[in-house]
This record gives sequence, C-alpha cells and structure tokens, in this order.
Amino acid sequence: MDLRVAVFDKLTCLPARYFDRTTTGSLISKVTFDAGQVAEAGTHVLTVLIRDSLAIIGLLAWMVYLNWKLTLVFLVAAPFVVAVVRYFSSRLRRMSKNLQTSMGEVTHVLDETISGQRIVRTFGGQEQERQRFTSGVNRARQFQVKFASAAHAVAPIAQFVTAVALAVLLYVAGRQFVEGEISPGTFMSFFAAMAMLFSPLKRLTSVNGPLQRGLAAADSVFGMIDEPEEADEGTQTLARCSGHLEFKDVSFSYEKGNSGGVESLSFVIQPGETIALVGPSGGGKSTLVNLIPRFYVPDSGQILLEGVDTKTLTLASLRKQIGLVSQDVVIFNDTVRNNIAYGALAGADDSDVVKAAEAAHAREFIDELPRGFDTVLGQRGVGLSGGQRQRIAIARAFLKDAPLLILDEATSSLDSESERHIQEALEVLRRGRTTIVIAHRLSTIEWADRILVMSGGRIVESGTHEKLLRINNLYAGLYHIQFARQSEPLSAAGAE
Ligand SMILES: Nc1ncnc2c1ncn2[C@@H]1O[C@H](COP(=O)(O)OP(=O)(O)O)[C@@H](O)[C@H]1O
Ligand SMILES: [Mg+2]
Repeated sequence: MDLRVAVFDKLTCLPARYFDRTTTGSLISKVTFDAGQVAEAGTHVLTVLIRDSLAIIGLLAWMVYLNWKLTLVFLVAAPFVVAVVRYFSSRLRRMSKNLQTSMGEVTHVLDETISGQRIVRTFGGQEQERQRFTSGVNRARQFQVKFASAAHAVAPIAQFVTAVALAVLLYVAGRQFVEGEISPGTFMSFFAAMAMLFSPLKRLTSVNGPLQRGLAAADSVFGMIDEPEEADEGTQTLARCSGHLEFKDVSFSYEKGNSGGVESLSFVIQPGETIALVGPSGGGKSTLVNLIPRFYVPDSGQILLEGVDTKTLTLASLRKQIGLVSQDVVIFNDTVRNNIAYGALAGADDSDVVKAAEAAHAREFIDELPRGFDTVLGQRGVGLSGGQRQRIAIARAFLKDAPLLILDEATSSLDSESERHIQEALEVLRRGRTTIVIAHRLSTIEWADRILVMSGGRIVESGTHEKLLRINNLYAGLYHIQFARQSEPLSAAGAE
C-alpha cells in the first residue's frame, strides 16, 4: 500500500515533460502490476529467505558439531549451487524486465482501445487493435514462459548437485561407520539432518524466481519514485497579484534542436488587460500559455509576474494566481458541484458554486440534469456534450476567481449562442483581472485590448483589431477568410 501511494504521490508532482515521453499504460502498469510484484517479493520471498536460511544454518551447525570432516565434503557442493543460482538470476531479471515492458504495452493498447472505442469502431480498427493487443500479450507470454523455464531449472540443477554431494557423503560416512569411527546414533542423526536440509534448500533455490522478479519490479517502481520532481526551487510567495505579466525574450523548445516551441517572446500585459492570441494551429499559442504556470520551464528569458521572476515563486503560490481553462477539458467522475469546486476550491460556498455556474451559462443545463448539482458526471463527463463540459470547466475557472485567467480555446465547442453568453460573462469576469484568450473564431476576440498573432513560435503581429486590419497582413488575411465564410450563407439567403 505504501509503495502504491508513494508511486501515486510521485505521479502528482512529476514534470509535464515526463508525461510527454511516458505512456499512460506503462505508468498504470507500474502502479498495478510492478508494485504487486515488489509486494510479493517483500512477503513470500522474504519469509522463505529468512526461515529457510535459518533452518539450513541450524542444520549445518548441527552437522559440523557431529562431524565436521563429513560436513566439509558436503560443503564442496555449495559453490556449484551458488554458481547455478547466479547464472540464472541475471536471465530471470532480464525476462522480468521484458515482461513488465510488455505488460505496460498491453495496458496501453487496452487504454487506447477502451477510451477510443468509438473511433476504433467507426474506422474499423478492431483487427488492428486486436493485433496490437495479441502481439503484446503474446510477447508477455513468451517472456513468462522463458522466465518460468529458467526459474524452474534452478531447483532441479541445484538439487542434483546436492544429491551428488550426498551420495559421496553417504559413501564416505558408510565407510567410517563400517570401520567403527562413528557411532550408529551419530550416523543416523547426521543423515537425518542432511535429509532435512533438502526441503529448505529446494524452497530457497526456487524462491530465486520471484525474488528476481521482485527486484526487477522494484527497479522499475523505485526508478520512477526517484525521478526528479517538477523543479520548485522558488521560495517567494505572492499574495493575490495584480495581473501584471511580462515575457522577456522567452524561448522554449520541447526537444533540443527541434522545431516546436516558442522563440524570443517579449511583451508586457498590464493588469486588467485582455490579450488575445491567434494564429495558425501549431503556432505556439498553447506552448506560450503553458509556460506561465511553469508546466514547462523556458530555456532562456524570463517570465515576470508583477515584476517577480516566476522562477523565484513557489509553484503553489504561482498557480494560485492562475485560472486555466485548457484545450482539453477534464471532467472528474464526481458530482457537478465537486467538479466545479475542485481541488483547493473544495468546500466553497454553495451559493458561489451556483454563481460560477450561472456566469458560465452552465446553470441552464445543470438544472435539467436528474439531480442538479448533485448529479454524478461519470467517467470523462459522458452524458454531457462538448459545450456543456467546457462550460463546467469555465465555471471552475470562474469560481477560482484568480487574477490571471487563461482560456485556451475554451469556447471552441460552444455553439454561437452559448459562446455569445460566455462572451458576456467574460466581459464581466475580465474586469479587474488579466485575461489571455486563445480562440480560432476571430469574431469572438475582436474586442480584446490587444491581439498577438503567433506563427511558427513567434509573435509576428500585435495590436488592436482595427490596427491589425489596417496593417493588412496575416491577421487581416485570417479575418477575411473567416468573415467571407460566415457571410456566405447569409448572402445566399439574402439572394433567395
Ligand atoms: N508536448 C509536446 N512535445 C513536443 N512538441 C510539442 C508538444 N506540444 C506541442 N508541440 C509542438 O509545438 C508546436 C506548437 O504547438 P502548440 O503550442 O500546441 O500550438 P497551438 O496551440 O498554437 O496550436 C507544434 O509544432 C507542436 O508540434
Ligand atoms: Mg493549442
């Protein structure tokens, strides 16, 4: 239990980069499969190891006491047994590692197929997924078989070696007995002890399998526990900030030397200002806003919140300043109320939750749910439309009432009607706080104080809607395309 909790605790404080390069499947499999194997090694293996080692030591001591010369003959076999066990140990460890990896793959395919079941069906991906799954399970089976054969080869080989030693011993002791060098009592006692050695020895050698498996699993689990956490070196805390935000020549790339990321961003946002980020997708808008709560740390440059480098702030204090509605809305398997009053907001006043829901225009549909605010939303919020989910997420951000509000395509799934409502709500909400809005429908951000146009990770244009139209460049181009598209059906209707 402690181990699983430790792994889970780690999950909540690993940096975003870790999740970029690790599959969900392998992480789930670490908590479920690997941790279980460590536990197995920690209980069953440990008892055998201690109990049977003690038994063997005890019996050997008795044998040495009875007749040390004879016992020495027997001990000649020991190095052979050790050699056999060691030879198989590394193989066992390797097979266990491979088995864990393939269990991770299997979990991953499972996860993808379950969460993407509609896509799998509509695109006829059943056979493809089936193959991915069976090849994963088949690999797991192969490693399992190889592991089992190696694990079960150790005990018989070790026993054979001991049996040979025993035969030699029997011969020597028999001679001594015949020549009257040892008494019948000693002879019997000696042989009884030797016979009793067999079971613990057998258990001890066959426990090597689970032991190596546990060690390999421990390697994987503790490897993750030892992963560096999100850098949180800041010591300063900030009370509620005014929302003054400055980017000073900030560059960041996801992978060194690769494209993807942002370059030399410099701008200042005054408290209470609303900034809109627009531009082609892949332009770096989400990347820019991800740098603000320090999901990623800039490679160079500084981000200053109220004149303070965000690096010097504690993560908790920094993130408290930010209300975020991200591109992919997350709904937890909990009631509507708890979804809005999530995390640090838990325990918020009911009236505040309702107010937030009203501001996000979520009240209408929440009241129609079977149990209102107490309706359990279910996994990933099934039972809600995309727009409804977005409104829950917006309500969550409203309730947080943070001085810095980031909306990353927060209204993209809304119909024009709800979007207009949210627009009005935002109009109220953005008073007294700094807001960064990312939107594709340019008609929804015309009113922003300033529009930053991003392309290829750079800010290529900046200014008000009118100014950018006058410049007649990228923004104007985007705007005219959308405007033409929007007015098409209208003019067609007018012509009729
Ligand atoms: N987690 C990531 N790892 C690597 N590259 C990424 C990651 N997220 C985004 N990128 C790359 O960074 C660039 C900018 O992406 P993004 O900021 O999401 O664009 P936008 O939000 O403007 O559509 C894209 O080229 C994208 O491929
Ligand atoms: Mg984006």
